[in-house]
Amino acid sequence: FTVTCLEVMRRFLLLYATQQGQAKAIAEEICEQAVVHGFSADLHCISESDKYDLKTETAPLVVVVSTTGTGDPPDTARKFVKEIQNQTLPVDFFAHLRYGLLGLGDSEYTYFCNGGKIIDKRLQELGARHFYDTGHADDCVGLELVVEPWIAGLWPALRKHFRSSRGQEEISGALPVASPASLRTDLVKSELLHIESQVELLRFDDSGGKDSEVLKQNAVNSNQSNVLIEDFESSLTRSEPPLSQASLNIPALPPEYLQVYLQESLGQEESQASVTSADPIFQVPISKAVQLTTNDAIKTTLLVELDISNTDFSYQPGDAFSVICPNSDSEVQSLLQRLQLEDKREHCVLLKIKADTKKKGIFASPCGLYQ
Ligand SMILES: Cc1cc2nc3c(=O)[nH]c(=O)nc-3n(C[C@H](O)[C@H](O)[C@H](O)COP(=O)(O)O)c2cc1C
Repeated sequence: FTVTCLEVMRRFLLLYATQQGQAKAIAEEICEQAVVHGFSADLHCISESDKYDLKTETAPLVVVVSTTGTGDPPDTARKFVKEIQNQTLPVDFFAHLRYGLLGLGDSEYTYFCNGGKIIDKRLQELGARHFYDTGHADDCVGLELVVEPWIAGLWPALRKHFRSSRGQEEISGALPVASPASLRTDLVKSELLHIESQVELLRFDDSGGKDSEVLKQNAVNSNQSNVLIEDFESSLTRSEPPLSQASLNIPALPPEYLQVYLQESLGQEESQASVTSADPIFQVPISKAVQLTTNDAIKTTLLVELDISNTDFSYQPGDAFSVICPNSDSEVQSLLQRLQLEDKREHCVLLKIKADTKKKGIFASPCGLYQ
């Protein structure tokens, strides 16, 4: 006779807060994988407060939250954060809640993963406890470096949680499911529980001072750059301090996720047009520019406000627009020479996302070699 291992599909609440879609894509991935591991996720945007109630929630909670602005939670999390920041809430308000949190951010910003950190801190203050270590994924080096092991470790952590809270576990509306495979996965992946230590390994610096020759040479270079600083103009071929003074570490090569095709086009005008398809092109002034990254960040990020008051630019929430920033002619020329692509200078570049890529939230649109 056949023996079937029947298990109850265990439910958890999965909330995401996103600004540009990556946290949502990751939450959807968690939701898909949950089924394979014998769980069922109730997936909601954190702003959909009518769909869940943390005050009475007995199932474990998983939160994926990104950061925007200068260390702010995404706009969709504003109301949630305001509510939990209410100082009149008692310190045991969320004492019944067990949660795991994955923060997304970019270490080039001053307040790394601060959106997640704000929520994490406040949930703790209100008595909620982790059933799984917090992960902080860095878009600067590739979110997937932390996201993938964090998701892999989530399943054994959830199983452990359900085992230890048996009797109280949330099985309402549960479906029976045969899952011997997920039990095996549990054993294989149990060593992935402690993610935080791996996160530390992802900081690419050479503070260990392994290569003293390189450091000495950098000191020499940095003195030279100080002397040269006055007639310095940054460009594609020549960077400015601190990059020009830094000892350059080579980050891990991420798996390829784009295929590039060069397509013949009639001329530069056409390649510009391809960026914006049928839509018109406006020339508008910049009304405000704020530097969001620290002064010593390798990659500067600016918050730029464009003044569109003198245009008939019409848009709806959710629309995307392209900013056309022509590159310097001479720099493009030297790059094309270096890449031996001079005969293709007027070609249109088509980017296609590889079908099997695990990278999340990428949007590729055609462009010319000059923008
Ligand atoms: C305008 C802007 C501001 C950002 N500010 C921060 C920040 O202050 N701290 C941080 O760690 N990451 C910051 N980031 C990086 C994002 O959090 C990161 O790219 C994340 O993966 C985006 O996820 P999302 O698509 O779900 O919003 C910022 C990104 C943008 C575009």
